[in-house]
Amino acid sequence: MTDGKPYSQACENNKQVILEKIATVFNEPGILLEIGTGTGQHAVHFAQHLPHLQWQPSDHPSNAQLCMPWLEDANLPNINTPLPLDVSAPDWRLPPINGVFSANTAHIMSWPEVEAMFRGVAAILNAGEAFCLYGPFNYGGQFTSPSNRQFDTHLKQQNPEMGIRDMDDLKRTGDAIGLVLESDFEMPANNRLLVWRRC
Ligand SMILES: C[S@@+](CC[C@H](N)C(=O)[O-])C[C@H]1O[C@@H](n2cnc3c(N)ncnc32)[C@H](O)[C@@H]1O
Repeated sequence: MTDGKPYSQACENNKQVILEKIATVFNEPGILLEIGTGTGQHAVHFAQHLPHLQWQPSDHPSNAQLCMPWLEDANLPNINTPLPLDVSAPDWRLPPINGVFSANTAHIMSWPEVEAMFRGVAAILNAGEAFCLYGPFNYGGQFTSPSNRQFDTHLKQQNPEMGIRDMDDLKRTGDAIGLVLESDFEMPANNRLLVWRRC
């Protein structure tokens, strides 16, 4: 916590590079759902710099209030009240959404939850709309760096259901439900920004 606000140094480190990528994807006015908002630092930075978007934060019901101090401090007109959303819920019951962003969630969720997130995103997006997913990912079962391998071990020690996801599994999951991988951007610190497009 900093100044009474929850704080993620990783968010401070990555928010500008992520912004530069998602600004090119979410370039039309619309309502943007963020899944797993966490502290709210991303929501505030992105909403400040993308005023054509109405930012809709959300998080697991156990965590959905965590972002309130950042949102209240920023007091931006284009950030909505955060919604409690567990991606495993069978019906997300959301207002119309035009795009989805999520950072550092796929390795925290169990694999069935990741599949549920993809199904839910596919269900709420219209053809042509995008889902940007940021985080570390594996390729062909291989870690992209020793630090990602260590991070995966650390995650699994906390909870064996967590772990860095493989691009092959994500692509298979997306392809089956009409979410096609459009771009895979290399990002600092062995992270990726994946852009999925609803077809
Ligand atoms: C590592 S934090 C990332 C937070 C923020 N996006 C960031 O980049 O700092 C993972 C987030 O995923 C959320 N999460 C985990 N399981 C979830 C679920 N089943 N449905 C929705 N959110 C979930 C957690 O509550 C947490 O906010």
